[in-house]
Amino acid sequence: MSAPLPPLASIPPDVAAVSDYEPLAQARMSAATWAYFAGGAGDEWTLRENVAAFARHRLCPRALRDLRGGSTRTRLLGLDLAAPILLAPIAFHRLLHPEGELATVLAAGAMETAMVVSTQASVRLEDIAARAQAPLWFQLYIQPDRAFTADLVRRAEQAGYRALVVTVDAPVNGMRNREQRAGFALPPGIGPVNLQGMRLPPAGPPGGLLFGNPLLEMAPRWDDLVWLRGLTRLPIILKGITHPDDARQAVAAGMDGLVVSNHGGRTLDGMPASIDLLPPIAAAVGGQIPILLDGGIRRGTDVLRGLALGAQAVLIGRPYIFALAAAGAPGVAHVIRILRAELELAMALTGCRDVNAIDASILTG
Ligand code: GLV
Repeated sequence: MSAPLPPLASIPPDVAAVSDYEPLAQARMSAATWAYFAGGAGDEWTLRENVAAFARHRLCPRALRDLRGGSTRTRLLGLDLAAPILLAPIAFHRLLHPEGELATVLAAGAMETAMVVSTQASVRLEDIAARAQAPLWFQLYIQPDRAFTADLVRRAEQAGYRALVVTVDAPVNGMRNREQRAGFALPPGIGPVNLQGMRLPPAGPPGGLLFGNPLLEMAPRWDDLVWLRGLTRLPIILKGITHPDDARQAVAAGMDGLVVSNHGGRTLDGMPASIDLLPPIAAAVGGQIPILLDGGIRRGTDVLRGLALGAQAVLIGRPYIFALAAAGAPGVAHVIRILRAELELAMALTGCRDVNAIDASILTG
């Protein structure tokens, strides 16, 4: 197998859609790194379904509507964004590009969107904030060491992060067979630098099974969100809520937003596509707090479908990290631009002048 290629110095003219970055990215990473980022859990049914399900929500064009003054601008939890498309939290950007998260945040700023920085970022959260022209949210995994978790929250607050995105769907990693088969391991020099100094839970029982493992015993519960709510005034957004009852409980617990997500098909294989999880959650929440959607978005028409079914904005993941691997910050900016251009076109053709005009009437049902 040939060695990974270096990032491209410029974007090839034949890159027309975000999926065009995939082969360019794959050629620029080892097979194991590709398996880590591109792969999902189990047989990857949910991973595939995330993308496939969008096509089942067919679009309904409308003619002759007034599109003057049209815009994709979006207000979201105090942010003013150029479009309802944010960058999802993804670990270890330095596996993909030498500048890692510093390249990503540059692109987010250039495209006037927000970046959600992962707890498992490969650059210190303060260093990302120091470079940022974009608003930042911090994705928090509540750690077994709660004192360390509180310290992470303080650090994010002090560095100017504007919200916490607490991932609640992955108390443990999914069964990542593709990653296991490829033998993925972090190379020396790249790791979760923001977790340095954390006390690790004691090792689990021999044999690697889950029940009885301290990691699961110390996994976050609803009580921990009450604790977190008392700890910070930052908005708290729960990522990975997929059941309407959990969504109602999140509202009752004073949460400020939700991300409907199946973790990019990386946790529980067999879950429905995230777009199909959205309508019951939107009905349960009834507009009390904003809902975001991630998983499988590859086109501006997918963003439109997400908004039509009740999301206020979407997060993209693999599309931007593949562009990061292929072409660094200009690649990431290009992907956001492609999606925004496609969204504008889709809005124009369905007669929606602004994001508030997008509703279920643009779907054929
Ligand atoms: C981490 O959240 C992962 O999905 O790898």
